[in-house]
Amino acid sequence: MTPDPGAVLRHRKRRHIDVCLTEPVDYQTLTTGFERYRLPYNALTQTDLDSVDLGTEFFGSPLKAPVLIGAMTGGAELSGIINRNLAVAAQQLGIGMMLGSQRVMIDDAAAAASFDVRESAPDVLLIGNIGLAQLQSSMVPGLAAALDRVGANGLAVHTNPLQEAMQHNGDTDFSGSMARLRDVAGTIGYPVMLKEVGHGIGAAAAAELHDCPIAAVDVAGAGGTSWARIEQFVRYGEVRYPALAEWGIPTAQALTEVRGLLPDVPLVASGGIRTGMDAAKALAMGAEVVAIARPLLAPAVESAAAVVDWLQRFIDELLVCLHGCGAANLTALRERGVTAAG
Ligand SMILES: Cc1cc2nc3c(=O)[nH]c(=O)nc-3n(C[C@H](O)[C@H](O)[C@H](O)COP(=O)(O)O)c2cc1C
Repeated sequence: MTPDPGAVLRHRKRRHIDVCLTEPVDYQTLTTGFERYRLPYNALTQTDLDSVDLGTEFFGSPLKAPVLIGAMTGGAELSGIINRNLAVAAQQLGIGMMLGSQRVMIDDAAAAASFDVRESAPDVLLIGNIGLAQLQSSMVPGLAAALDRVGANGLAVHTNPLQEAMQHNGDTDFSGSMARLRDVAGTIGYPVMLKEVGHGIGAAAAAELHDCPIAAVDVAGAGGTSWARIEQFVRYGEVRYPALAEWGIPTAQALTEVRGLLPDVPLVASGGIRTGMDAAKALAMGAEVVAIARPLLAPAVESAAAVVDWLQRFIDELLVCLHGCGAANLTALRERGVTAAG
C-alpha cells in the first residue's frame, strides 16, 4: 500500500518539532558574526527611553516593532496550537508572523485548519510559505487559494538545497528553480519574499536576484538553528556529517553581502537572532526587520502568554539599545551604524 503523502508530510513536520524541542539543533561552532560588531554607545544620548519609537512598515503593513515571528510550522495537530499561540502573541504585540510551509495544506485539506490564524490575529502582517524545491508554475492557482484562505499579506518562498540534501527522500533537484521563482513571483498576485532556512542567502544567490520581481529577502543566515543538523537527527538519530551541519553563511555576513548587492530590496535579518542587541546590530547594518524562529517554539507549545513574555523581553532590550546609542527611532539607528569590535 502506498503511504498517504499528506500523512507522511504531517509525520515529518511532527518529527521536526520533536527534534527541535529535544536535541541540540543550533550550530555548534559557527556563529552569526554579530559578536564582531558593536553598537556605538552614546553617554550623552538625547533620547527619552519612554519615547523611543520602534514603529515601521514592512510588506505594506504597519508594525509596532521591527520583528517577525519566523516561519515554523503547520500540518501536524500540534502545529495548529503552536500557530494560534504565535498569532495571538503577534496580534498583542503588533508585530508580524510568517507561517510554516503551506505545501501540506495544498496536498491535504485536513491539514489546512492548522494554518487558520486570521481570527486570532485580524491585524497582523501574515506571510504564507512554500518551498522553492517543490514550486511549479502549475501550483500557482492552488497556492494562491491557500494564501487567500489564510488571509495572507504575502508569500515567503524558502530555498533550502542543503536541508533537502540531508533529508530522507528530500527534493534535491534545484535545476531551473530560479526560472520557476521568477515566474511564480511575477504571476501569484502576492508580494513574494525569498528566504533560506538558516544556511544563508549571500552574494552568490543575491547576484541571481537582480531581475527577479521579489519584494524582499530574508537572509536566514547561519549561527542559529541548523537544518542540516535537524535533518540528520531525524534521519540517522545522530549527526553523521558534522561539517555539513556547520555549513552556511553567517547571518551578519549574509546581511552585508545582500545589502551591498541589492541596496533597494527590503531585508529581513534572521538565523540566530536571539537578543535585542542582535536585532539592534542587524537593523543598524541595514535590515528592515528581524525574525526569530526556534526560540519561540517551546513557548508556543506552552501558551500565547509565554510567547508574549519572550518577545516582550526581546523588544524591551531593543528599546534600550536604541536609547543607549542615541537613536529615537529606526531611521536614526540605521544612521548610527555599527563599529567593528576590536
Ligand atoms: C520547527 C521549525 C519549523 C520550520 N519550518 C519552516 C518552514 O516550514 N518554512 C520555512 O521557510 N522555514 C522554516 N523554518 C526555518 C525558520 O523559519 C528559520 O529560517 C530558521 O529556523 C533559522 O532561524 P532561527 O535560528 O531563529 O531558528 C522552521 C524552523 C523551525 C524551528
